[in-house]
Amino acid sequence: MSKKKPLVVVTRKLPAVVETRMRELFDARLNLDDTPMSQAALVEAMKTADVLVPTVTDKIDAGLIAQAGEQLRLIANFGNGVDNIDVASAVQRGITVTNTPGVLTDDTADMTMALILAVARRIAEGARIITDDEWAGWSPNWMLGRRITGKRLGIVGMGRIGQALARRAAAFGLSIHYHNRRRLDSRIEEALDATYWDSLDQMLARMDVVSVNCPHTPATYHLLSARRLKLMKPDAILVNTARGEIVDESALSRMLEAGELAGAGLDVFEHEPAVNPRLLKLARQHRVVVLPHMGSATHEGRADMGEKVIVNIKTFMDGHKPPDRVLPSML
Ligand code: 8YV
Repeated sequence: MSKKKPLVVVTRKLPAVVETRMRELFDARLNLDDTPMSQAALVEAMKTADVLVPTVTDKIDAGLIAQAGEQLRLIANFGNGVDNIDVASAVQRGITVTNTPGVLTDDTADMTMALILAVARRIAEGARIITDDEWAGWSPNWMLGRRITGKRLGIVGMGRIGQALARRAAAFGLSIHYHNRRRLDSRIEEALDATYWDSLDQMLARMDVVSVNCPHTPATYHLLSARRLKLMKPDAILVNTARGEIVDESALSRMLEAGELAGAGLDVFEHEPAVNPRLLKLARQHRVVVLPHMGSATHEGRADMGEKVIVNIKTFMDGHKPPDRVLPSML
């Protein structure tokens, strides 16, 4: 006797290969034109789906979870960060939550390194000068940036992405420093040649480049507060490819405007897709490099994320623990 396929509602358009497989395995309701779901559509999905597949653009908060039908058993997030989901409320209601860790580590670390280089070496500004037809020719003092070799990189959050960044940055000659909730195992620390700072404040005060690589949780909201940002050296650079909410954007803008920080590279923002107008102005003045949340945006990465979502759903539906279950205690 064949089992009824679970109704899986996917909130955004996913890679074709992922959607094809989902159609084969599930009663998949796909979002063919990729229009973000309205609140009403999300409520309807919560009431009818067995499995919801949201992304970073869907806010699955306590209010929405309270409206979930009895049949909703799994929220299989297409994404690593789960700050778009109230995991505690979901779990309390007996809904399992999964994410897609691991498969976007290298891509995000690559983009972080790219932003460090882009800010330090003025890459976006240089590219614009050519396309705007403003290049009058080479000159010894033209477009000077900052050398990164020999500088200190402080990584805030030394999980998978932080460690992948450490390996890349070491190859560029940066010395590796980190702050993390828990100190890494000494063997990992040694392999990365990384110096642990128990005090985030002290680390910030001594770094040339600071990269934010921790998840956004209530504990990390504005972790880089106005007070902490002020501890940074005026010639330092801040890079954020994690979540906008971890950095106090207004304080950061103020400091950049006042020349109290050399520059910033941001792939994420506090109120996406809106970007703080002050940051936009700074970007137009080439004092920050801003990117539209594309840290993990590779063809391969998106396909791998989709594959993870499928494995999580399939395993769960087959009665096993899905490999990427997220528990409130992990956050
Ligand atoms: C994804 C991300 O693009 O996975 C994450 O946590 O921040 C991004 O790289 C996005 O979340 C997809 O939902």
